[in-house]
Amino acid sequence: MKSTNRTPVIAANWKMHKTIEEAVCFVKGLIPLILNVPVKVYVAPPYTALHSSAVAARNSPVVIGGQNMNDENEGAFTGEISANMLKDAGAEFVILGHSERRHLFNETNDFIRRKVKKALSKKLQPLLCIGETKQEREEEKTEQILKQQLEESLGDISPEEMETIILAYEPVWAIGTGSPALPKEVQVIHHFCRQLVRQKWGADTAEKVIIQYGGSVHPQDVKELMELPDVDGVLVGGASLTLDLFNQIIHYSR
Ligand code: PGA
Repeated sequence: MKSTNRTPVIAANWKMHKTIEEAVCFVKGLIPLILNVPVKVYVAPPYTALHSSAVAARNSPVVIGGQNMNDENEGAFTGEISANMLKDAGAEFVILGHSERRHLFNETNDFIRRKVKKALSKKLQPLLCIGETKQEREEEKTEQILKQQLEESLGDISPEEMETIILAYEPVWAIGTGSPALPKEVQVIHHFCRQLVRQKWGADTAEKVIIQYGGSVHPQDVKELMELPDVDGVLVGGASLTLDLFNQIIHYSR
């Protein structure tokens, strides 16, 4: 057993998948399965299914959130969505800095930092993703990249704000490949990230902050990952699209 007061968070990132009907059906099916689990369960549907998913999740333990947002309140930003709009649709958290946003849509640490600040100011819980590419890993730059992403994406937020943020370590080379990072490596990196939080925001904050692992998490790997001292949950893409697989991940300790 690991000794921590942190309640793990298991989150589904549906990316560009699911119609409104599919999302609602999933959420309604999930609720009775998770009534007594010792973890928090988060689901990030696509924008179109956000409101109906939030309605389906009302008064249940399922927490609904967005997959991204813009840092502006409103304006001429075709295709973008604001923190207020996410909240209006029923979102309680927002994934920021996902590697697909960083690499496919050229999002910079500075842009992500502005989004984190905006989300905090609107009481939307940021779930900030960080992670190195295959090339950065091969060049042994993992720690340098993670430090830079953390420092530049979080900026000068307070320890109280930092405690509300969920960090997700997602090695880009493991996402969607079917092969997660090795647990031993994951623990080293998570410990490194917690040390960075400790140095900047203090020991109390570092003890409280949730650090998830993400990247090809499947039912067969999750127990070993969740037992690592510095892993406080998982962020799941592909395997979160199927209710049975996601449910097995949530019930990893059974
Ligand atoms: P994956 O995606 O579980 O399909 O690897 C994880 C993520 O991108 O958040």
